[in-house]
Amino acid sequence: MLFTFFLLLCVCVGDSDAVKNMTAVLGHSVTFRCPSKHSTPVERLYIQRVKNDKVEEFINGFSRGIEMNVFSEYWDRTKVDETELSMEMRNISVSDEGLYKCVVFINNKPEISQILLKVTAEYSVPTITKDCSKLGDGGAGKSCQLSCSAAGGYPQSTVRWVGLNPNLTNVIYNMSSEDNESKTWTINQTIMYNCVQPTNTSCAIGGALSHTISICETESFPLQVITAIVVVLVFVLLLIFVVVMKCCCRRPQTSGTQEHTH
Ligand SMILES: *[C@@H]1O[C@H](CO)[C@@H](O)[C@H](O)[C@H]1NC(C)=O
Ligand SMILES: *[C@@H]1O[C@H](CO)[C@@H](O)[C@H](O)[C@H]1NC(C)=O
Ligand SMILES: *[C@@H]1O[C@H](CO)[C@@H](O)[C@H](O)[C@H]1NC(C)=O
Ligand SMILES: *[C@@H]1O[C@H](CO)[C@@H](O)[C@H](O)[C@H]1NC(C)=O
Ligand SMILES: *[C@@H]1O[C@H](CO)[C@@H](O)[C@H](O)[C@H]1NC(C)=O
Ligand SMILES: *[C@@H]1O[C@H](CO)[C@@H](O)[C@H](O)[C@H]1NC(C)=O
Ligand SMILES: *[C@@H]1O[C@H](CO)[C@@H](O)[C@H](O)[C@H]1NC(C)=O
Repeated sequence: MLFTFFLLLCVCVGDSDAVKNMTAVLGHSVTFRCPSKHSTPVERLYIQRVKNDKVEEFINGFSRGIEMNVFSEYWDRTKVDETELSMEMRNISVSDEGLYKCVVFINNKPEISQILLKVTAEYSVPTITKDCSKLGDGGAGKSCQLSCSAAGGYPQSTVRWVGLNPNLTNVIYNMSSEDNESKTWTINQTIMYNCVQPTNTSCAIGGALSHTISICETESFPLQVITAIVVVLVFVLLLIFVVVMKCCCRRPQTSGTQEHTH
């Protein structure tokens, strides 16, 4: 009852104050600080969540001298510091993102400040794969199919390829899927890259960077072919050498007999 009363009171007061932005990391803690312009002791503090621009949901707070009987889904993961006029919220999830209001009562007058909470989650290190065996359109040149994917990030992000010429890039698959529970994102993109020169590349999703891979390496004649050519060459040379040696060894003999017969 008391709570509803103050809630109404708060709604009546203008929301002219500037919004303070705050960022929290998924699963971590964040501290909402409610500024007070006066040095007078604060009688009451309410921290509320603004939903759909209108509805305000009580989260936590205090009221000196009055037992606050609050039911709130936030009860077990929030803690109010009466001297600091702050509230710690633990285990932040994506659904905590949004607008909050601090209502501080001094001499029965409310002072309102607003906090916009943004949540971030780092993507996993992207997995990068290549498949360069495929030929380009019409089999004209070599091309590489590259895939990049990462999971568990927030907000939604896109794949950024490092070191590739956008003119030679074609996106063939692009997927973003949201986890129903955690509301985090899995991003997956596959591109076809037309080879022009040997290139080192990596991909980034959000702030996470994959390892570097080499693509479009110049086909320095397949090693097996070179080895085969060398083996054959050595064999042929050996054969010639043997034949020549045989001829050379026989010639003195024949010339000797020739001399002898002369
Ligand atoms: C807070 O974020 C909003 C929306 O993202 C932006 O328009 C505003 O300028 C930011 N305010 C400050 C003080 O950074
Ligand atoms: C944190 O919140 C998630 C849901 O958002 C829950 O599954 C998990 O058990 C919580 N972790 C702790 C340590 O409370
Ligand atoms: C991509 O092509 C445009 C014109 O088609 C050219 O101006 C630009 O320099 C090219 N970019 C690269 C990185 O080669
Ligand atoms: C891939 O999908 C995301 C989200 O659906 C979109 O923002 C992005 O522009 C797309 N990228 C390309 C290259 O199509
Ligand atoms: C996620 O939710 C959507 C609709 O809310 C549903 O269609 C889809 O099947 C759900 N996916 C999973 C994996 O639960
Ligand atoms: C990403 O998409 C490619 C192409 O469809 C697929 O082969 C690969 O398994 C996907 N990776 C993940 C992690 O979903
Ligand atoms: C790619 O990286 C390798 C090893 O880091 C390096 O030897 C090579 O010169 C690089 N190639 C290009 C085209 O930058």
